[in-house]
Amino acid sequence: MVELSPSILSANFSNVIGDIQKIKSKNLKMLHLDVMDGIFVNNISFGFKMIEDLRKNCDYFFDTHLMIHEPLRYIERFKEAGSDLITIHVESTKEVSKTIDAINSLNIKSGITLRPSTNLNEVYKYLDKVDLVLVMSVEPGFGGQGFIEESHDRIKKLRKYIDENNLKTKIEVDGGIKSHNVSKIVEDGADIIVSGSDIFSKDDINKQIETYYDIFKNYK
Ligand code: DX5
Ligand code: ZN
Repeated sequence: MVELSPSILSANFSNVIGDIQKIKSKNLKMLHLDVMDGIFVNNISFGFKMIEDLRKNCDYFFDTHLMIHEPLRYIERFKEAGSDLITIHVESTKEVSKTIDAINSLNIKSGITLRPSTNLNEVYKYLDKVDLVLVMSVEPGFGGQGFIEESHDRIKKLRKYIDENNLKTKIEVDGGIKSHNVSKIVEDGADIIVSGSDIFSKDDINKQIETYYDIFKNYK
């Protein structure tokens, strides 16, 4: 079954837990937490304290997407704050292997991601070490951007590579995904769908989450 990972980047930051508590869906298991440092990307979002405080108030699987320079410095603190999965950008450090090893050594899930302009060859070598590969379908930094159509080919290529090499790596896709374009992305081979503005900007957040799961029911 495909999973949804709603990005709280588009939630009301003065009452994030209030938005999360509107979710009654029994289908939803995870939340996507976008951490930005203003250096690796041209935006600043939130850090440990937000994650720590959310952890005390909800039980979702925390899918933490680090858009920060040299993430190795902070892996332990993100785990301590409550992350269940930490994804790093392949372009964010020269110490990619070491950073993935650091995540894996903490007994949480690990992920590798790449910008839309980065060649897929940059991540193939890490796929047997990580639980997940995150395909960015917008330039990282902001919610509410349009889906980059070339991402379809990238997802399909990764799916093929993973299947042909008998890997267990999940494919997550992030950026510009809406209920009206999600089907094709699932057909490309995505296992986890990130969606931010199309969920948290809706009046009925819970209903929108169920809309996604209704679509996912059409697939395995
Ligand atoms: C962008 C973030 C995304 C973003 C997605 O850098 O990684 O997770 O929140 O937002 P939407 O779904 O609005 O494109
Ligand atoms: Zn993200």
